[in-house]
Amino acid sequence: MRPNALNPKGLEALRVNDLWWVLFGMATFVVVLVIGLLLYAFIRGHRRNESPEELRQRSVSKRDVSIVLSAGVVMPAIVLVTLFIVTLEALADSNTDLSKTTTTVSVVGHQFWWEVRYTTPTGEVTTANEIHIPTNTKVRLELTSADVNHSFWVPQLAPKTDLIPGQTNTMWLDARSPGSYHGQCAEFCGVQHANMAFTVIAQPPAEYQQWLSQNQKPAAAPSSLLAATGESTFMTSACVSCHTIQGTQADGKVGPDLTHIASRKTIGAGVAPNDASHLKKWIMNAQTLKPGSNMPPMSLTDSQADSIVAYLETLK
Ligand code: CUA
Repeated sequence: MRPNALNPKGLEALRVNDLWWVLFGMATFVVVLVIGLLLYAFIRGHRRNESPEELRQRSVSKRDVSIVLSAGVVMPAIVLVTLFIVTLEALADSNTDLSKTTTTVSVVGHQFWWEVRYTTPTGEVTTANEIHIPTNTKVRLELTSADVNHSFWVPQLAPKTDLIPGQTNTMWLDARSPGSYHGQCAEFCGVQHANMAFTVIAQPPAEYQQWLSQNQKPAAAPSSLLAATGESTFMTSACVSCHTIQGTQADGKVGPDLTHIASRKTIGAGVAPNDASHLKKWIMNAQTLKPGSNMPPMSLTDSQADSIVAYLETLK
């Protein structure tokens, strides 16, 4: 779905959308009024060739003064004060009480992907670039960055919030209908800023709980010989120094957690679909798909890469 802030599906975005239409309406009204008066002056006004002497002697009538005061002072004051009040109201509405919120998601910005963590009473879930949330629920987001400034923006759900290293910013999402909502980094953060996308997947609460418990499970054991070969290749290569796969000895923290990578729709923060051919390309040399990403080219043979792909595809 194309991101469109004027097609809001979240409480915060709905509020901003309402404010946007008020501002747009007022601005349009003023522009039309001023252009109309200008046109009126052009059409109805008649040119008088007054000498400088005549101009100097012309007296300012009371009517002239009242036009200047009403159109130049009173009208702008009414418009600006009204806009100020509606904007303040919208700002105050965003300050919602999150003390009863049961769902908190931690999001860490990285060059150029999103780390997503859930802490539940029964365990932790770490994933990347896909944020599952329950619908019609206030979800608290805690945002920070591992490197440079990024900005979290899902136009259909809420306005943007920056992710800043060494600081935790909070915001909230409340999706009113299930769906996949496109998100995008909105703060220039380096060469692959444009390819730092993510998806918010809003699901009915029961479905969300199911996703959460499925993703708390450690990685599934390889089910085929090829996948088992892939697992041992993975565990004896440089992969493990950057990636975690829960339930194995891979516990790197630099790159995305791969415990349930097969359940995700894209790789490289939205740069390619998560299928065997793109995954293989990515593993062999991610720079061909996303130049400037921190995933280095791997020195693997073709069959080694095939086996790792087979292994990763079992991690549902
Ligand atoms: Cu991260 Cu732009």
